[in-house]
Amino acid sequence: MSGGVQPIRGMNDVLPAEIGLWQHLEATLRELVQVYGYEEIRVPIVEHTELFKRSIGEFTDIVEKEMYTFADQGGDSLTLRPEATAGIARAAISNGLLRGQKHKLWCIGPMFRHERPQKGRYRQFHQFDIEALGYEGPDVDAEMIVLTGRLWRMLGITRVRLQVNSLGTPASRAQYRDELVRYFRGHEAALDADSRRRLDGNPLRILDSKNPDMRAIVAGAPSIVDHLDPESRAHFESLQRALQSAGIAFEVNPRLVRGLDYYSRTVFEWTTDALGAQDAVCSGGRYDGLIAQLGGEATPAIGFAMGVERVVELLRQGGVGPQVRAPDLYVVAQGDRAGAAGLALAERLRDALPGRRILYGLGGGNFKAQFRRADRSGARFALVLGDSEIDRGVIAVKDLRGDAQQFECPMAEAHARLEAVLKE
Ligand code: HAM
Repeated sequence: MSGGVQPIRGMNDVLPAEIGLWQHLEATLRELVQVYGYEEIRVPIVEHTELFKRSIGEFTDIVEKEMYTFADQGGDSLTLRPEATAGIARAAISNGLLRGQKHKLWCIGPMFRHERPQKGRYRQFHQFDIEALGYEGPDVDAEMIVLTGRLWRMLGITRVRLQVNSLGTPASRAQYRDELVRYFRGHEAALDADSRRRLDGNPLRILDSKNPDMRAIVAGAPSIVDHLDPESRAHFESLQRALQSAGIAFEVNPRLVRGLDYYSRTVFEWTTDALGAQDAVCSGGRYDGLIAQLGGEATPAIGFAMGVERVVELLRQGGVGPQVRAPDLYVVAQGDRAGAAGLALAERLRDALPGRRILYGLGGGNFKAQFRRADRSGARFALVLGDSEIDRGVIAVKDLRGDAQQFECPMAEAHARLEAVLKE
């Protein structure tokens, strides 16, 4: 293959054979957000690079090495969004949506990160994202988690478990960070290169290390839950009580620190054991300081994002088949006259039977070839039109799935007869 038609590594096509699961998931998500009263927002796929640097953080993996950044023709540095939260926060500020108001927003779309592609990890991937702006919680924290629990039930997904943690306020986190740096400095010789690099920029991320050699050191590190300020502790305890009373099982994981800098207080993650190394299916948390930090008025907020590819894979593994609806009717017409009459008939039926799937045998050919195509389409009935039917003003209706007798009906009565047989 020449360069021009090669796909980009880590960026996937979703083919018609796979799209059914995506559509099923998207329809379920739309139903879910309706139920909970979230409104859709669409923000650009490209933003000023500065926005992501300031919100996600200079020393995060995303900003340090994963962003698709380029200079546009005007010389501005732009970046393909690696996530949706920063753009939504920016949109809330630049459209004046805040001013003491609250918003429950959602969006779905592609995100871009130049990561090493592997199963479940892509360079273009899709997130379903929810953000609640202006809510202090912890009730909204609990409701958001309950909402994800409902989604798993709606989708029949069972192999997921929930971890929660609290990162406290920026002040309590800074204190904890100092203590953590002291601890890791005391063990510096045993740190791997990645962790040593993080020691200055983002020491909390060392807790997230996937290197087995780091396990013992990480296990001995001071725990963030012992360093929470009283308000954050009360917030976290209240969230846990709410989850318990809602019957949502969870585990407190003090090592859950998240890879983006804007979080404070509640963070959570749903993971699965069904996808291998890329086990996070839905992650999020509170970002009470972000909007003020970007120049908007101080607004508490919380949200999460779900990896659509990963959830689609869970559905596929769970045996959810592609949700394709077979056609109801397939018009088989042979010859010029019948062809034109068949095309017009299909149009009349589409008017008269709204919502029905009605296919016309494009490309013509003899009856045998057309019946084969009609059969392969999965249609219930073939509507047959040849010269003899045209001359008599009728159509023949042939049952392709059951064993009902073929019958003829006058062209003018076709829609009424077909409506009746389709209901059987
Ligand atoms: P995140 O943890 O970076 O958080 O990503 C959220 C989810 O996106 C992950 O749990 C995972 O399912 C999926 N994901 C991330 N990277 C990839 C990838 N390379 N390939 C496939 N799936 C991926 C955020 O993005 C935050 N904006 C979430 C948030 C919203 N926090 C508050 N509001």
